[in-house]
Amino acid sequence: MPQDKPTILVTGGAGYIGSHAVLALQRAGYDVVILDNLIYGHRDVVEKVLQVELIVGDTSDRPLLDRLFSRLNIAAVMHFAAFAYVGESVTDPAKYYRNNVYGTLTLLEAMLAADVKKFVFSSTCATYGVPQVLPLPEDHPQNPINPYGASKLMVERILSDFDAAYDLKSVCFRYFNAAGADPDGLLGEDHNPETHLIPLVLQTALGKRESVSIFGTDYPTPDGTCIRDYIHVNDLAAAHVLGLKYLLESGDSAVFNLGNGGGFSVKETIETARAITGREIKAIECDRRPGDPPVLVGSSDKARQILGWNPQYPDLSEIVSHAWKWHQQRHA
Ligand SMILES: NC(=O)c1ccc[n+]([C@@H]2O[C@H](COP(=O)([O-])OP(=O)(O)OC[C@H]3O[C@@H](n4cnc5c(N)ncnc54)[C@H](O)[C@@H]3O)[C@@H](O)[C@H]2O)c1
Repeated sequence: MPQDKPTILVTGGAGYIGSHAVLALQRAGYDVVILDNLIYGHRDVVEKVLQVELIVGDTSDRPLLDRLFSRLNIAAVMHFAAFAYVGESVTDPAKYYRNNVYGTLTLLEAMLAADVKKFVFSSTCATYGVPQVLPLPEDHPQNPINPYGASKLMVERILSDFDAAYDLKSVCFRYFNAAGADPDGLLGEDHNPETHLIPLVLQTALGKRESVSIFGTDYPTPDGTCIRDYIHVNDLAAAHVLGLKYLLESGDSAVFNLGNGGGFSVKETIETARAITGREIKAIECDRRPGDPPVLVGSSDKARQILGWNPQYPDLSEIVSHAWKWHQQRHA
């Protein structure tokens, strides 16, 4: 028999954004169980910091999911588990469709079998493809330019169809660039391999890398480098708690962008990191990478209006200094 107290199942909760969401859920008074296959997740973070039950397993393991849903009284699922390396998704798309689409479909079918019908999903601004207007609104056409973005868009489509057919209610969050770390220094970003700008810059500051590459200095932006919308990971986590409450209070399925509505260039980000770390950070100017739009910035007005979301850390200096605190502890 399932236990009585409703619990939130967080897939990918041992990863970067998922672990911050688990902490936010705990702080908001929810019971949490994590499902993570630990391909990229960190057991030590779950055991030492989060101290919640960790089920080591895969979202495509249906028998495991059935056992989990029959043992626990799950009120909702927050689904962070996915592969998220854009370049790898181009060279090995099968890996991305299998994990991000088939894995999610298996999870959703297990939820339906257990009559769990609330789902919070990590989608991405990569579902939009090349922006036609800025800041990108949620109703911007979705034409992803890589298999990673396509895999997330497929799940969005599945969720829309599952709502119509099975009454499964979902909140899809399309994140822009997640960045920063828990301000208390408990958690942070630790991807391996790392592809995100801020940790790469900070690893260079720590001497773990020789230099950081700037891909393209001739974009039509004020300093010629790409502009991205960095959103603090704790602000993302706070949005997830609000999205969950919205669903549990019978909100209808909805899609929300999560970004700051403004952006910073690669050069500005490196300069900010130099100022905060006080270290020389060697940057090498390289050619543009194919498929990088000059500017990617989203409008998050809808999340502010409907969920009452109000990002607490929009300032790049704060984002970088929280990440720096974490990096010094974790990687020094
Ligand atoms: N980091 C960003 O800027 C960003 C931007 C947009 C969207 N997203 C999405 O947010 C989510 C979390 O991203 P992140 O940066 O925290 O990544 P992450 O790699 O740190 O976390 C993902 C976690 O999921 C686990 N996992 C992967 N596939 C699994 C599976 N089939 N079963 C069980 N566990 C599995 C990994 O071990 C890892 O712990 C992903 O869905 C990603 O696509 C991230």
